[in-house]
Amino acid sequence: MMTDDIDLSASFGSAWFPWPVFTASGCASSGKELAQFFPLREIGAVVTKSISIKARSGRPTPRMAETPSGMLNSIGLQGPGIDSFLENDIPWLVAQNTRIIVSISGETVDEFSVLARRLRSVRGICAVEVNISCPNVENRGLVFACDPEASRSVIEGVRRTLGGDLPIIAKLSPDVTDIVHIARGVVDAGADGLSLINTLLGMVINTDTLRPHLAGKTGGLSGPAIRPVAVRAVYQVHAALPEVPIVGMGGVRSGRDAFEMILAGASAVAVGTASFGNPRALLDIQNELKSLLKEKGFSSLKEAVGFAHRVDRTQREVKG
Ligand code: FUM
Repeated sequence: MMTDDIDLSASFGSAWFPWPVFTASGCASSGKELAQFFPLREIGAVVTKSISIKARSGRPTPRMAETPSGMLNSIGLQGPGIDSFLENDIPWLVAQNTRIIVSISGETVDEFSVLARRLRSVRGICAVEVNISCPNVENRGLVFACDPEASRSVIEGVRRTLGGDLPIIAKLSPDVTDIVHIARGVVDAGADGLSLINTLLGMVINTDTLRPHLAGKTGGLSGPAIRPVAVRAVYQVHAALPEVPIVGMGGVRSGRDAFEMILAGASAVAVGTASFGNPRALLDIQNELKSLLKEKGFSSLKEAVGFAHRVDRTQREVKG
């Protein structure tokens, strides 16, 4: 259990989180498996697997592959659909007394708004993550986050539907030429914060079968292999939009990795792939991050957000 002698809190619009480490959407479903290992209220938030309007069985198997320092997945947004999710997952999460960010995924701009409408009056939700960047869709044209206009349209629709009720966090793809351009567009359209980054599109070919290893052929690359890409994206977006809070993610597996994201400009950090190897990774990372912040002389996490951008470092003593 963490003590509260250093302020680790983060805010995204009107949503406040006492701790800065969140589950990364997709790696812990709605958190039931992780709850066997620690109380979910001890992390910042559970970000659910992106939910769709209808139940989805996902892509055919195999849909996971190990890669050097990473993992490739081609799940295909498997999930129970919004009706079952609201009936079963949300009440269970509310009973855990944790903070809930619901991730949503649609196949059209309208579907995102339909999902937002279903969430608008649900009690216990802190924010909505709008996943416009899943790489595992049949049609790459459906990766809204690769197109500035499509990204804006989705967020405008969700904002219109939600009114001012719930903060929106837009999840962006690193597979673009200029992520800052996409980020500006979704913030102008009404996003309160950003999740950076979703997985990178990748492929593994099995040299025995001579075919792509994944049934869906391509998949999303996660894990430590992508951390420098994530840090770069967070750094670039924070430099351009310093007031916009970012959930940094992509290969975070230690407190030091989380600290790197914070220094780049993230206000919170999400952990996904690391929890497959160590189900307590989120808590371990949160504790390590707290120790590191103290060791470096910070009295709050907010003080460290984007610290790597500061030109004049001589004004404060940076230890170590
Ligand atoms: O295939 C998947 O379910 C992945 C989703 C995502 O990366 O957003």
